[in-house]
Amino acid sequence: MVHTRTHPIRRAVSIVPFVVALILLTGTPAKVREITIDEDTPKSDAELKMTHPDVVLLPRLGKTGPLSVEEAILRRRSVRRFRDAPVLLTEVSQLLWAAQGITGEDGVKRAAPSAGAKYPVEIFVVAGKVDDLAAGVYHYLPETHSLEVVRRGDLRSELCDEALSQEWVAAAALNIVIAGVYERTMEKYGERGIRYVHIEVGAISENIYLQAETMGLGTTFVGAFSDDGVKKVLRIDAEPLGIMPVGVRQQ
Ligand SMILES: Cc1cc2nc3c(=O)[nH]c(=O)nc-3n(C[C@H](O)[C@H](O)[C@H](O)COP(=O)(O)O)c2cc1C
Repeated sequence: MVHTRTHPIRRAVSIVPFVVALILLTGTPAKVREITIDEDTPKSDAELKMTHPDVVLLPRLGKTGPLSVEEAILRRRSVRRFRDAPVLLTEVSQLLWAAQGITGEDGVKRAAPSAGAKYPVEIFVVAGKVDDLAAGVYHYLPETHSLEVVRRGDLRSELCDEALSQEWVAAAALNIVIAGVYERTMEKYGERGIRYVHIEVGAISENIYLQAETMGLGTTFVGAFSDDGVKKVLRIDAEPLGIMPVGVRQQ
């Protein structure tokens, strides 16, 4: 597949460890980083790992599942009680793909629709109990289908505190945080861009709900939280618009 993109990943990727180190040392909020790929992109996973040790490559994706889309819609419910069991990295991979994975043969278009294909939404993972993934905050990189380390350590309880102590945030194996960068869409659509970003969050979260359903996982869209508090926990500038705790369903 030929990717036509704007910035060389080698250059972008090479500065990320220094940026992450700087964040860890200074504690200042990180800008949402955009990493894109061009012809110089490492073509193999091994090459990418060598060039960027702070990126976790996600496992390969499944293209078929046990549930039809109709069954997943029928069964979908907001789930707030989870088993005390880990979620697998392959399952996290599938959820992130459903949220913002690149599905277009052009290497640009994603799993959820986006006004003007501006893709203003960034996805973060607050992992606590994920097999083969250390606890921490990660930023999803759609173009390489990988996770970039933002913070290390289990921050589920801190995130829960910022979400009006809704205990399913702390109890979930991981939380997916959906954040918006309004300017990307407002640049083209002005004020109307704000509503477009919110609409996109709805589409993305429904994809996550349905994908979770196919894997025996449960989730809930959590909209009640302190914006500034979540930004501090994640160390991001993007506007947090939703938190989706994910865990293994009890029944
Ligand atoms: C915009 C929005 C915000 C929500 N915020 C919360 C929340 O903060 N906490 C929570 O437990 N559920 C939240 N929910 C989930 C709703 O409570 C849930 O969707 C509703 O009760 C219907 O149940 P169902 O999703 O199982 O069909 C939210 C849902 C939406 C769409």
